[in-house]
Parts: sequence; structure tokens; C-alpha cells
Amino acid sequence: MSENSAAPAPTPESGPAAQPGPAAEPRPAFTPAPACGPDAAHTGERPGQDDAAPAPAHQQASRPAPKPMFPDGTGPAADPAGSHHERRIRSFQPRRSRVSPGQADALRRLWPQWGLDIDGLSRIDLDKLFEGRPVVLEIGFGMGEATAQMAAADPDTGILACDVHTPGQGNLLGLAERNGLSNIRVANGDAIILLREMLAPASLAGLRVYFPDPWPKKRHHKRRLIQPEFLSLVTTRLAPGALVHCATDWEPYAEQMLDVLSAEPTLANEHSGYAPRPDFRPFTKFEGQGLDKGHVVHDLLFRRLPA
Ligand SMILES: C[S@@+](CC[C@H](N)C(=O)[O-])C[C@H]1O[C@@H](n2cnc3c(N)ncnc32)[C@H](O)[C@@H]1O
Repeated sequence: MSENSAAPAPTPESGPAAQPGPAAEPRPAFTPAPACGPDAAHTGERPGQDDAAPAPAHQQASRPAPKPMFPDGTGPAADPAGSHHERRIRSFQPRRSRVSPGQADALRRLWPQWGLDIDGLSRIDLDKLFEGRPVVLEIGFGMGEATAQMAAADPDTGILACDVHTPGQGNLLGLAERNGLSNIRVANGDAIILLREMLAPASLAGLRVYFPDPWPKKRHHKRRLIQPEFLSLVTTRLAPGALVHCATDWEPYAEQMLDVLSAEPTLANEHSGYAPRPDFRPFTKFEGQGLDKGHVVHDLLFRRLPA
């Protein structure tokens, strides 16, 4: 897919029913959103004040402020939550990837309005950040092509798109600007910290996890994102009726997803077993790579039950 395209496809969260609705027109103009940061949509409320685990010790006020990525002080933070201090097993491999000039330009210009560093220090007011839209969290958007397409197809749903991959963050910001998408915010850092420390209970209308790293080696299985502990956390952040949508081309991971999603008592499978591929999910880059290798893709759709 070209960098500039964001072909609409119907999506499920904004309409009253779970069925995909008709494709909507993308918004015509780029509308800057309120700035993300302590003065804008962060409430300033300290995390750890609800049923989630309290903020870990490394997140105390004495922690040095995260350093911006670019030497001139612009762009996302290099290590927003100081995660190198946190010994938790992570589902991603920190990597140094080349940021193209176009991506760097987008990060410099658009980060203050559209970006959000996951520093784990304050609660995000999603209502304010997305101007009242229902909000879906996408974890691991990669280069963001599918994210942009889904945002274009459903401008009444906000997408909080989370990844640690800087070139992808720049790419997605550029796509949002070129396509006039005002319903995307890019969150930089570990989704676990975002969920645990920065999102309020029952604040999400959905969760999307498309082609998460499969961690195929047995000794790495503990790094897989979709685990019982992850679901116990994520389901506290989902509103009743929220849709959890996962997809993978790695058969053993698909089986694990089906097992752990089915075992989570607050979720109900929308289908018996795997779901047919929904029209609203665009093809992703990693999906294409899996299909090229002859892999079979599985979708899973589960709905959050009322509390
Ligand atoms: C295999 S890629 C898939 C990208 C995209 N969804 C696609 O299908 O093309 C997985 C992505 O998840 C991101 N990721 C993994 N764990 C994460 C976490 N805990 N928080 C944020 N991003 C994460 C990685 O950085 C990577 O970009």
C-alpha cells in the first residue's frame, strides 16, 4: 500500500451494533487536536488509585524527566517510562531503527499535538483527548497503515495507537496528516504501562492487537503479549460491550490466544472458536509477510461482558 493511501473499510466500535457499518468519508481537513501532556488531557491524577497495582517504585517523582529523541528537544521521548529500570519481561525487543527524513519531520512537527509519551506518571483523560469519541486501543501498530485505514473508515471512533517503534510513529503521524485524520493519537512506549498506570477503568471501547510478535522459541513464550495476566489487566480497562480483536498468522500463538481469551471470565467469544476475517480489518504488513510464507491467519473476536 502506498504511504499516502488510507482506503476506508467499515469498523465496528462507533455504531450502536457490532455489525460493520457503511464506510464513512474521511474528515476533509487536518484539525490539530488539543496538546497531549500534563496541561492538556492528562488529568494530573496519580495512577494506582483504583483496582490496578500501585505505581512501581521507579516511577516516583524523583525520576529524571524523559529525554526527547531529537537533540533539539523535539519528538517523542527516547525511554518515556525509564523502562530499562523495570525488570518486567517485555513483549518487544528495543531496536534502533533508521528514521527517514519524512518520518523525522512528522515526529518533530506533529508530536506536540498528536503524540503522547507513556511515562506512567498521570492518568489520561480520553474524553478530552478524543473530543468525546469512543476510544479503541491498538497495541503494536507497526508502520500504521492499517491504523490509518481504520481511522479513515470510522472517524467517529478514536484510535489510541501504541507502539515503541519510532519510524512507525513518524509514518503514522504523516499518514494522519496527509489523510486529514483527526481521530488518531500516537502513544510512545510500553502498552502495559499505559494500561496499568495511565488509563482509567472501563475507559476503552475496544482493543486491537494485530500480528503481535509471535516469540516462536519456547524460552521466549513468556514474552508473548496475550497472556492471562495481560487479559486480567486489560479487561479492567474495557467498558462493557468493548470488542477485543486479535489476529495472528502464527498457529501456536493463535491456539494460545484462543485458550487464554476463552478462559478469561469477563470475555465472551463472538464466534465458536476463531472468527471469520472481519471486513473492517485491513491487511497489515506483517500479515502479508505471514501469507507469503504460507501461514494461515486467524482472527479472534471477544466481547467484554457487563461487570
Ligand atoms: C510484529 S509487529 C506487527 C505490526 C502491525 N500490527 C502489523 O501487523 O503489521 C508487532 C509490533 O508490536 C509492538 N509491540 C510489542 N509489544 C509492545 C508493547 N508492550 N507496547 C507497545 N508496542 C508493542 C512492536 O514494537 C511491533 O511494532
